[in-house]
Amino acid sequence: MGYNIVQKILKEHLVSGSLVPGHEIAIKIDQTLTQDSTGTMAYLQFEAMGISRVKTKLSVAYVDHNMLQEGFENADDHKYIQTVASKHGIYFSRPGNGICHQVHLERFGVPGETLLGSDSHTPTNGALGMIAIGAGGLDVAVAMGGGPYYLIMPRVINVRLHGSLRPWVSAKDIILELLRRLTVKGGVGKIIEYSGDGIKTLTVPERATIANMGAELGATTSVFPSDEITRDFLNAQGRLKDWKLIEADEDAEYDEVIDIYLDKLEPLIAQPHSPDNVVKVKELEGLKVDQVAIGSCTNSSYMDMMKVAAILKGKTVHPDVSLVISPGSRQVFQMLAKNGALADMVAAGARILECACGPCIGMGQAPATNAVSIRTFNRNFEGRSGTKSAKVYLASPEVAATAAIYGCIKDPRIWGKEIQIRLPERFEINDNMIIPPSENPDEVEVVRGPNIKPFPSHEPLSEKLEGEVLLKVGDNITTDHIMPSNARLLPFRSNIPKLSEHCFEGVDPDFSKRAKEKGGGFIVGGANYGQGSSREHAALVPLYLGIKFVLAKSFARIHKANLINNGILPLTFVNEEDYDEISQGDVLVLDDAVAQVRSKDNIVIKNITKGKEIIANLDVSDRNRELLIAGGLLNYTSLSNR
Ligand code: F3S
Repeated sequence: MGYNIVQKILKEHLVSGSLVPGHEIAIKIDQTLTQDSTGTMAYLQFEAMGISRVKTKLSVAYVDHNMLQEGFENADDHKYIQTVASKHGIYFSRPGNGICHQVHLERFGVPGETLLGSDSHTPTNGALGMIAIGAGGLDVAVAMGGGPYYLIMPRVINVRLHGSLRPWVSAKDIILELLRRLTVKGGVGKIIEYSGDGIKTLTVPERATIANMGAELGATTSVFPSDEITRDFLNAQGRLKDWKLIEADEDAEYDEVIDIYLDKLEPLIAQPHSPDNVVKVKELEGLKVDQVAIGSCTNSSYMDMMKVAAILKGKTVHPDVSLVISPGSRQVFQMLAKNGALADMVAAGARILECACGPCIGMGQAPATNAVSIRTFNRNFEGRSGTKSAKVYLASPEVAATAAIYGCIKDPRIWGKEIQIRLPERFEINDNMIIPPSENPDEVEVVRGPNIKPFPSHEPLSEKLEGEVLLKVGDNITTDHIMPSNARLLPFRSNIPKLSEHCFEGVDPDFSKRAKEKGGGFIVGGANYGQGSSREHAALVPLYLGIKFVLAKSFARIHKANLINNGILPLTFVNEEDYDEISQGDVLVLDDAVAQVRSKDNIVIKNITKGKEIIANLDVSDRNRELLIAGGLLNYTSLSNR
């Protein structure tokens, strides 16, 4: 039996496990990327590992998310990232150089390699034939330190694209069609591998649009072959040496096959408030539009921008529409400036933003109350734009630019003759906004403004855990309860001590103070403890407050993993009635902790206050037992590296 592309790349990077769907595998990571919003924490975690230089082939730190500087916090973060990158062997892409995924595609992605990024749209680089996966900051920190990345081997879906797109139908419509069919849950636990004669009609930036929004399907990642089209793109980027052929074997097998006939597709649009709420543009024709935003890591390539400029040329943006455009990278921006396309956009009345995420994460350009906003982005969740009542629609650059001119949704085929934009033979290559790491790292001083606080230290598991039940909560406690995230707290993502003041504040405003006074202790929870987002801070902050274990009826999967990664034991009651016997303030003791964690038997906890024993279960893998004994993933990785 032959191999598909996913199997070929994973096989070459396999550290442990076998490529059987549902089984845990560990893979070696060649490249990492971070962006500033998650990067500060990833680098604090990396520093805490005590490794002087990254062990990847390439690591890049981008600044593209939090670009507004209304106070010192974001600027402090940028300075910290720049200096920590320089010291530890990481390239730094300066603010203004572009959105991480677009720049990575242009300047760094390499076919056949693995990329782990602390951003959910890292799969964009699957367009180059990479296995590119989005992960938490800690996983990326560990990968930078040379540790493998653990994941459950996904099923591989083969999406076969047939034929070619008709005029005014674009790559965005292909992925919107897939979202329409599979929904936002359709890709969970899967990798999407594209093939078929239709892919030969798609350039790398078009493939990148499709791979990017595989994240909205919930897919682990998406991958295209690396073929002659990839070779031409890398050649035009002056990187021919990075190219190699990667194709599936003819007799490759897949877990599922989906066919899409490109010539049957029409311009599509996702309605509020979900990327899978997709209909034909024709069905919404005439709907009045207030704002159009073009850019984001989904649709901000040179080709996208040139199509927009061609539509806008010689026309005027509708008086009721605010049109904002952010080119995806400084390379794209510079090329538009040189060839006159930027002048066409400006002359039409477009507002040009810097090369960054900008409105995609609500950093400026929040729409008016109840406004209709057409965006070329990848997400349209309620409130993400910064205006809860706004109605955000997702569409191609062609549909968006057409709406900007007409002031309402219109099928772009109204323009008639197709716009032909060719991939340039040579992109504008100028890497002067990418700062290589220092050759004299000892001389680099990492700049830590007042917003940069040390990462909480992870201590190996003690022989005896003794302390009070600092908090007893009920069922369905979310990560939002544990560590709220709101506009007020966002600038402090690199400041765990500050965040700790707000831990459980909506549940018990005195919790943080009490935990600090008592020097740590334990939390008792009900069922489904830690449900909700994957927020790492919901484990990091309790770690900082000295929480040694959480004893609950059950845990949400991702939070349980985060607790383990941070060396906090996730224990469950063997007899759920014992939950009722424990009170806040009870003193608990767990003796012979290391031996108890290592043995696979039940764990015995003494309730000294009540004079009773509680039997608990630690349902984790052998590797996780060692990880907990080491004091979490960082320590475990540092130990394995010695
Ligand atoms: Fe940035 Fe939005 Fe992409 S926040 S990385 S442009 S999804």
